[in-house]
Amino acid sequence: MKVLVTGGAGFIGSNFVLYWLKNHPDDHVINVDKLTYAGNLENLASAHDNPNHHFVRADIGDSAAMTKALEGVDTVVHFAAESHVDRSIMTPTLFLETNVVGTQVLLEAAYKNKVSRFHHISTDEVFGSLELNSDTKFNEHTPYNPHSPYAASKAGSDHIVRAYHDTYGLPITISNCSNNFGPYHFPEKLIPLAITNLIEGKKVPIYGDGLYVRDWLFVEDHCRAIDMILEKGVVGETYCIGSMTRDMPNREIIRDICRIMEKNYDESVEQVKDRPGHDRRYAIDFSKIKNELGWEPKFDFSTALKYTIDWYTNNQDWWKHVKSGEYQKYYQQQYAS
Ligand code: NAD
Ligand code: TYD
Repeated sequence: MKVLVTGGAGFIGSNFVLYWLKNHPDDHVINVDKLTYAGNLENLASAHDNPNHHFVRADIGDSAAMTKALEGVDTVVHFAAESHVDRSIMTPTLFLETNVVGTQVLLEAAYKNKVSRFHHISTDEVFGSLELNSDTKFNEHTPYNPHSPYAASKAGSDHIVRAYHDTYGLPITISNCSNNFGPYHFPEKLIPLAITNLIEGKKVPIYGDGLYVRDWLFVEDHCRAIDMILEKGVVGETYCIGSMTRDMPNREIIRDICRIMEKNYDESVEQVKDRPGHDRRYAIDFSKIKNELGWEPKFDFSTALKYTIDWYTNNQDWWKHVKSGEYQKYYQQQYAS
């Protein structure tokens, strides 16, 4: 089988490419990535000599390049996106260009090339925000109510993916997953930012009161869920993927990281100004994918967190390269006050 992965040099995409090459050694993977600030070929170093991995540097918004890359492709797994909420607040236009228009260009090329599956990776952020201390969770029937430009652009991409199914019969599936974490996670996001700041002896910035809740999913569990959707998922369907069994506010996550890294919490954090429009709580009801496809997370949060901290401790060259250059400018702008 020939699988085209977009965004395969980013965090989840590169984990997925490595997962796929390991678990489907007879398949060919075409990895299309524009290599924005978030794309990093060092993530794929272990696949460098693998003849079944072909990297193509291209923009998903480039129709000719997508049509060519899709020749003979059976399955598309679409990760490529601008993915960071704080950057979407600074530069929303780019999010609409890549996440909405880019996705439509890719869909059109996939439709013309008659792919047998187009799997779109989306986020729980399209559903908006839940109340703190409630039992409510997002599921496949939750109405869309995005707040940030990032979430709104992902909501737009989900709608256009469904439109290609309903209008043109493109065989699509969609997954809306929660916050991933694990190796190769860009250190602008909370968990890798906290771990790398603590290694560097810097403080961890906590937005507002720190009582915001996310549903944390280990990236390898996510990759396995996508594999199961490709194998057994029903065309036209959406699957919600999450992992947590209880709410853990950001402060508790950072406290756990400090404990594992033997740092004093009170001396290691600083409260910074809150994110505008900050969603209070995300939580996923993943019973559909569990009951229908037999997926559930293999990793509990604390084991996966310890594994992730060890990975960042043992791979300092990787994130030190990433944290230089453009990242410095972004960090100063984001945490200016
Ligand atoms: P990431 O920012 O780490 O990687 C995105 C990748 O897409 C990068 O390699 C980048 O170079 C590439 N890219 C960006 N614009 C492109 C374009 N125009 N053409 C081709 N390539 C382009 O993102 P991630 O965290 O790995 O997220 C991957 C997908 O999963 C995204 O669609 C995101 O919305 C979704 N998602 C992520 C999370 C999470 O917690 N990280 C949670 C839910 C959903
Ligand atoms: P993030 O990793 O940016 O993911 P998302 O916004 O897509 O959920 O943020 C996770 C949570 O951590 C969110 O509530 C915002 C908060 N946060 C901080 O408190 N400090 C930070 O420096 C960052 C980047 C995030």
